[in-house]
Amino acid sequence: MKISHNISLKNHHTFRIDCKAVTLLFIESKEDILCFIEKKNDYTPFYILGGGSNVLFTSDFQGTILLMRSKGIEIQEDTEDEIVFNVAAGESWGDFVDYCVQRNYYGIENLAAIPGLVGSSPVQNIGAYGMEVKDTIISVEGYSIGTGEKRVFSNQDCEFGYRSSIFKNELKGQFIISSVTFRLSKKEKYNLTYAGLREMAEKSLEPLSLTAVSKMVVSLRNDKLPDIRVIGSAGSFFKNPVVSDEMARLLREKHPDLVVFPLDNGAMKLAAGQLIEKAGWKGRREGDVGVYHHQALVLVNYGKATGSEIVRFYQKIIADVVLKFGIRLEPEVNIIG
Ligand code: FAD
Ligand code: EPU
Repeated sequence: MKISHNISLKNHHTFRIDCKAVTLLFIESKEDILCFIEKKNDYTPFYILGGGSNVLFTSDFQGTILLMRSKGIEIQEDTEDEIVFNVAAGESWGDFVDYCVQRNYYGIENLAAIPGLVGSSPVQNIGAYGMEVKDTIISVEGYSIGTGEKRVFSNQDCEFGYRSSIFKNELKGQFIISSVTFRLSKKEKYNLTYAGLREMAEKSLEPLSLTAVSKMVVSLRNDKLPDIRVIGSAGSFFKNPVVSDEMARLLREKHPDLVVFPLDNGAMKLAAGQLIEKAGWKGRREGDVGVYHHQALVLVNYGKATGSEIVRFYQKIIADVVLKFGIRLEPEVNIIG
């Protein structure tokens, strides 16, 4: 297990806040996970980090960061219709999507270019453009930090929901995901339920293909989301709020243009970005913290923002949206400290 001490975390998370950790452990194998678990009392408090694209460090981390860096893509089943892969937690998510797109394996193409690692993909059940990763996951494998026991969670055991799973809730900080098993299809089938993607596909002169769809997704993303090589961010800062049918109806009486997506359980999902924009925050900047000008759900660090400045800023947004719409936005990003 490789270890470093007193390390800046700036290049290990996409908000690019200049903060430090006491110790950094590089987890490159199952043996490293077990070695960490055996010595965990020497490394407490600790935090598991993949690509750091969904975290906000509010200050220096007075403990150990586990950097998940294990590699490997293993084919477990290969039939005429389907392929099953077991992928190590430290593989890049975007590279795995590209690998599948190039080989004509269907099911995750709309999730192209989401930053981060494969091991984090089940944690918040990543989703975009009408797809969620839960629909391709067979199981999630890993180790219980308390006992060192290996556990395999079936898709159902993972308790997947919108931006949620057992790993983000009940098992947060208690379980290290070592790999994820996916089932992808070899049958040509596209998911064009997201209106913007469907419109692009309809206008395109190219025949539909996995490569074409993933390119369209990347283009949609580039139009709305910041380039993390240039601007610090963790993507959508808040979750889209889910409200009752009645609450949505009352809100639409006052704001007829409010976007509302009906969910299977009868509840309604609102667009947090629209609420933030309507509250007047889109493009607003205080010091080096701001609301991204193309997508109000995304908070950005223009350079030297600190974690506590971002916390103060997002709390002002929450308070203002409560005042104007009676809706309390919840962070989607994992706030550390
Ligand atoms: P990290 O930020 O490192 O970790 C996220 C959480 O998972 C933490 O709580 C961490 O402790 C836990 N974790 C990580 N690895 C493990 C492990 N092996 N075992 C146990 N726990 C672990 N998300 C979407 O869903 N859809 C999008 O469209 C999207 N777009 C984005 C665009 C931008 C520009 C950015 C910056 C982010 C975006 N995100 C999106 C958010 C983010 O990319 C995803 O949540 C991603 O899955 C996070 O991966 P990561 O490896 O960076 O996780
Ligand atoms: N909207 C506005 N103003 C804004 C932003 C959005 O009015 O500034 C409106 C849009 O016009 C649209 C609606 O809100 O009617 C939804 O917008 P969009 O389709 O861009 O998606 P989103 O709900 O804002 C979600 C995810 C993104 C994901 C996109 C695409 C969450 C929290 N965010 O954003 O995920 O990429 O859909 O499917 O669910 C992330 O999690 O980090 C992330 C980027």
